[in-house]
Amino acid sequence: MSEALSSKRRTFLASTIATGAGLTILPSGTLAGLGAGGKLNIALIGAYGRAKAHWGNLKGENVVAICDVNAENLALAAAEFPDAKPYTDWRKCLEQKDIEAVVCCTPDHHHAFVSIWAMNRGLHVYCEKPLGDCVLEARAVRETYLKNKGKLATQHGTQRHMYENFDRVAELVKGGAIGELQDVHAWGNRTHNMTAYRPDAGPAPSTIDWNQWIGPTRMHPYNPEYFTPTRGPGSNCLQWNMFNDFGSWQIGDMGSHVMDLAWNAIDADRPTKIKASGDPFNPDVCPSALQSICEMPANDWRGKIRLVWYQGGPMPKSPFGPIDLSKIGHGVMFKGTKGVIVADFNNRILIPLGKDTDMTYYKSPTPDQVAPPIGDFQQQWINACKTDLKTCCDFDYAGRMVETLMLGLVAHQAGKELEYDAATGLITNDSGDYASFKKEYREGWTLNG
Ligand SMILES: NC(=O)c1ccc[n+]([C@@H]2O[C@H](COP(=O)([O-])OP(=O)(O)OC[C@H]3O[C@@H](n4cnc5c(N)ncnc54)[C@H](O)[C@@H]3O)[C@@H](O)[C@H]2O)c1
Repeated sequence: MSEALSSKRRTFLASTIATGAGLTILPSGTLAGLGAGGKLNIALIGAYGRAKAHWGNLKGENVVAICDVNAENLALAAAEFPDAKPYTDWRKCLEQKDIEAVVCCTPDHHHAFVSIWAMNRGLHVYCEKPLGDCVLEARAVRETYLKNKGKLATQHGTQRHMYENFDRVAELVKGGAIGELQDVHAWGNRTHNMTAYRPDAGPAPSTIDWNQWIGPTRMHPYNPEYFTPTRGPGSNCLQWNMFNDFGSWQIGDMGSHVMDLAWNAIDADRPTKIKASGDPFNPDVCPSALQSICEMPANDWRGKIRLVWYQGGPMPKSPFGPIDLSKIGHGVMFKGTKGVIVADFNNRILIPLGKDTDMTYYKSPTPDQVAPPIGDFQQQWINACKTDLKTCCDFDYAGRMVETLMLGLVAHQAGKELEYDAATGLITNDSGDYASFKKEYREGWTLNG
């Protein structure tokens, strides 16, 4: 198997790079941004916080609508985009007729809703990570995208993907620098100490539309601590994303970024088996400590592999005494038959191990086999809306990845190894109801709206 796979792996690498540089011919009438000055008409939903990191790129386009449930944040965004029509309800915002594309930076429990509603209206979507809050949300976003493939440009907000290290790591793995790939370990070091939803602190101030903040999920009492960023705009998610109804904690948060570094190098579909361990299951909060182990099916250039996510304490074993993996806050280790690659977002270390440490088995890529830089990640999506619809983290790629991550939370609650059939989206050896698999929504809220 290994020689055949290894030759397929090299052919695959070369053809992927060649396709990346290729030209796509689109049916007419699918491109956006062909109006005044070639600018794209964009709605920014969730207009402050993480959205601030998008403002610079968005200023080159027409932001025609902004939506935020917090009047103070809406006012900050309105000062930047004075011509945009303001909204507090994204469902009303999406009715505005001149919108061509949507950037969604709301809390996680709205992501799948906004993405699906927007795609159903023929709008291109950039959605912050994670794409969904449970297995079925990730699947639904991906399926809606696949129905619209060839018409819409989508991008999942894992902007670190633009670091050139991502493709260098993928080239090493796919090029055989560590032999046949066996195990991939990805981890993050953040922890939390919450055990229940924040207590009732009376009614929300008139500046916050709490009902709309809650949106599709179960009602919970307002507490101002949901709105207390500790490190400026874009850090407030750490005040709510450990609560099950609002997020998925690190497996969806930094897990999206770290797993993207792995996912880019393994060409994976979804797992066939998943088991997990960690803090005891708590219906209110996601586990702080978690380890999720997925068995990933073989593809046409590699055999079956194990893919493991660790957060909040558990860590993979060091491959080699002097390397202290705990000094890498967020990292990935790829283990092959002939060596190991340890990487963070910007750096990589290759450690040949075993008998063939002279590495004569490995041919490094020629300049024409090296993937070109992606450039600015958000701009890639804007350009894609106007040209070839191609992005590096579209909702097919990201949907499969987030579905895999969410299955870790399902297996944690189930407390046993689950067998999964990705084609049907069914767990085949268990019939439990798991919130990380399928969420219940408030009356009046439809995911596929
Ligand atoms: N890609 C990255 O590196 C990165 C970094 C930080 C955050 N994020 C993601 O961005 C998202 C937002 O995180 P944040 O820290 O900015 O959170 P946040 O709590 O500050 O919320 C962002 C904005 O959305 C608004 N909002 C809340 N509910 C809304 C609703 N129903 N409709 C419209 N607007 C609503 C808030 O008022 C706020 O202005 C999260 O999903 C997070 O995972 C991504």
